[in-house]
Amino acid sequence: MSIADRGTEAMMTNYPPRPLTIVRGDGCWLWDDAGTRYLDLVAGIAVVTLGHGHPAPIAALAAQSAVLDHVSNLYWTEPAIALAERLNSLSGLEQAFFCNSGAEANEAAIKLARRHGNETGGAAKHELVCLEGAFHGRTLGALQATWAQPKKIPFEPLPAGFRHVPRNDIAALRAAVGPQTAGVLIEPIQGEGGVHVIDEAFLIEARTLCDQHDALLLFDEVQTGIGRCGAWFAFQRTTVRPDAVVLAKGLASGMPIGALLSRRLATGFRPGDHGTTFGGSPPIAAAALATIEVVERDDLIGNAARVGEHLSVALAGIDGVAGVRGAGLLLAVELVDGDAAGAATALRERGVIVNAVSDTAIRLCPPLVITMEQAELAIEAFRAVLAARG
Ligand SMILES: Cc1ncc(COP(=O)(O)O)c(C=O)c1O
Repeated sequence: MSIADRGTEAMMTNYPPRPLTIVRGDGCWLWDDAGTRYLDLVAGIAVVTLGHGHPAPIAALAAQSAVLDHVSNLYWTEPAIALAERLNSLSGLEQAFFCNSGAEANEAAIKLARRHGNETGGAAKHELVCLEGAFHGRTLGALQATWAQPKKIPFEPLPAGFRHVPRNDIAALRAAVGPQTAGVLIEPIQGEGGVHVIDEAFLIEARTLCDQHDALLLFDEVQTGIGRCGAWFAFQRTTVRPDAVVLAKGLASGMPIGALLSRRLATGFRPGDHGTTFGGSPPIAAAALATIEVVERDDLIGNAARVGEHLSVALAGIDGVAGVRGAGLLLAVELVDGDAAGAATALRERGVIVNAVSDTAIRLCPPLVITMEQAELAIEAFRAVLAARG
């Protein structure tokens, strides 16, 4: 049996059919089981910050595992504290909680907001205001914060107390936030929803309303954080400062990690309020620290800004492209013919892996180590594929 057949037999059917079996990766390149090489412009969906197989996080993980692997959060371990210190200083926030995925980090953020609301306004102050088009994960709370309505129906009832407003609609935001609001949860650039940049004016208003109503402003930077959008955090491209930030994906360049960073809250978690067995385990924390070190040492944030700008301008000039949106190396290419799935297949057949983030748009979120030469290969492939589709 092929690997694909074995997978179809042995694994649950929660994912759509997968077109490739990938066996090896190196930098921005992947190889399938037939030996075909692909330029990877997806990076495990914005995860492999340093490219596949980068030696720094692997060496840090191995070295730390050999010294101390796992003891749980019953004890202090130094790597998690060092990572918290580093992230606090990069974000301007003050305290960290570590977990294992984006959804789990969002659950922590929702609980933090409710903890704060309960303390400051009683049980009635529990609502989360989220955006239409949002994606925050698949666990029940994160799913309820997510906008994709049809995905929720088979799993109802979901937790109560979540409202959604159209992105960038300031009047709707004003109407939704009030004394009952515990938190406002926003992706500064919506990723899964189609790569939509939220207006700075909308974020400023969210900050003002949270201050007025003593609610927490929570930014989900699971997809946008750790340099991808041309700053350590996408919110740093604006003047707005959140009360808490959610991270995961790119933080340890491929190793599973989630994080919630917040300012020091008198109304924050107390012992026993929240936890997870694996969060902040020494090897994963060491891999995250190594990732941050390389992002800084190799100016990958500058690279993301430069290569992203080049891709953006060049792709926007190709016949068949209606427009390019996003920031840094999180981009969506809107197609004139509106067939993103067909274009993604054609690009893969030319050796370039992309992701159809909506019916009409292709998402690019490559490793931050992508070079201008590799970007040129991608642009050339888009040109050829869109020309062939006429
Ligand atoms: C903005 C955002 N939040 C949360 C998540 C969920 O992360 P995970 O799949 O690690 O649970 C994602 C995943 O795509 C995401 O893009």
